[in-house]
Amino acid sequence: MVQTLVTGGTGFIGSSIVRQLIKNRETVHVLTRNPFYVPRSRRIPGAVYIQGDVFDASSLRRAMKGCDAVINAVQFENAPFENPKKGLTYERVDGEGTVNQVDAAKESSVKRFIYISGAGVREGRQEPWFKAKLKAEKAVQESGLQWSIFRPSWIYGPEDQSLNKFSLFARISPVVPIIGSGKEKIQPVYVEDVASIISLALNAEKSFNQIFEIGGPEILTMREIVKTLLRVQGKKRLILPHPKPLMKLIASILQYFPGRPLTPGAIDFVTMEEYVDTAPLLKVFPMSLTSLQKGLTQYMGSASDLNESGRQAA
Ligand SMILES: NC(=O)c1ccc[n+]([C@@H]2O[C@H](COP(=O)([O-])OP(=O)(O)OC[C@H]3O[C@@H](n4cnc5c(N)ncnc54)[C@H](OP(=O)(O)O)[C@@H]3O)[C@@H](O)[C@H]2O)c1
Repeated sequence: MVQTLVTGGTGFIGSSIVRQLIKNRETVHVLTRNPFYVPRSRRIPGAVYIQGDVFDASSLRRAMKGCDAVINAVQFENAPFENPKKGLTYERVDGEGTVNQVDAAKESSVKRFIYISGAGVREGRQEPWFKAKLKAEKAVQESGLQWSIFRPSWIYGPEDQSLNKFSLFARISPVVPIIGSGKEKIQPVYVEDVASIISLALNAEKSFNQIFEIGGPEILTMREIVKTLLRVQGKKRLILPHPKPLMKLIASILQYFPGRPLTPGAIDFVTMEEYVDTAPLLKVFPMSLTSLQKGLTQYMGSASDLNESGRQAA
């Protein structure tokens, strides 16, 4: 049994990891910039919430005091919409933020460091998210700690910020817009699968000093993903693709609006095609990965369980 600090433990993926670790009877501390503003759905009973920021080294050392392990699931708000004026960039938060955490871990009692990277990270890629995650991965690999790196593909679940947008459109509009041709292929993975694998990895020596790719059991086009979602919701809607060049043109203007509602980089990010090889992962963590239809049904209920507002019937 180890004491673990989950940074980003109030986020979509981090909170699922915290819930799973608590289920496994681990001792969990969660780093958050504001322990008083953790949403109810993400405040997991049994976890201890500690104030800190990845850009405040002393807060990191304080939070890591007495911890054996760190799991890093930090992401800047509103990703993938970078906002350099506010310091919300991949380079700063994924890159420097992880380097700061590794430095603090080395100065503390921490022996184990798990980093959530992303599918497609490798030398030579030019996109800012790949460059930043590669920098973070290198810092983790060179740390001298017992590390594991996970590179997930697109993660969905009850609180994601992407598939849920399609679900909202399906509830309020006759049309579901998608960015790109709809033929882009990805490998959606259920957040519960990611959380259970990462929590198992904490104590699994076979996963030490290894990089694992995580993806779902199916490679699907964006159109197939939305069709599956509509099937689970019991809705018939027109799926309307928005060509990438047009969306990049619109984004090149909207990026100068307050709050940067759309950026060209974000369009590139959401239309990326990345598949992963899960064979090495499943060799160390044998499990059956959840299909999209099954995952969606698990938290949305089947169409017959849903009332008109799209919420689960009582
Ligand atoms: N979502 C996906 O499909 C996907 C796929 C592959 C990889 N990933 C990776 O998974 C990781 C987690 O993503 P997510 O979607 O779960 O993110 P998220 O829901 O946006 O959560 C972000 C977390 O980061 C924390 N945070 C932000 N800035 C911070 C700072 N300066 N100091 C300390 N904590 C800070 C937030 O905590 P507070 O607000 O409480 O401080 C929050 O807990 C990211 O590295 C992402 O790249 C995600």
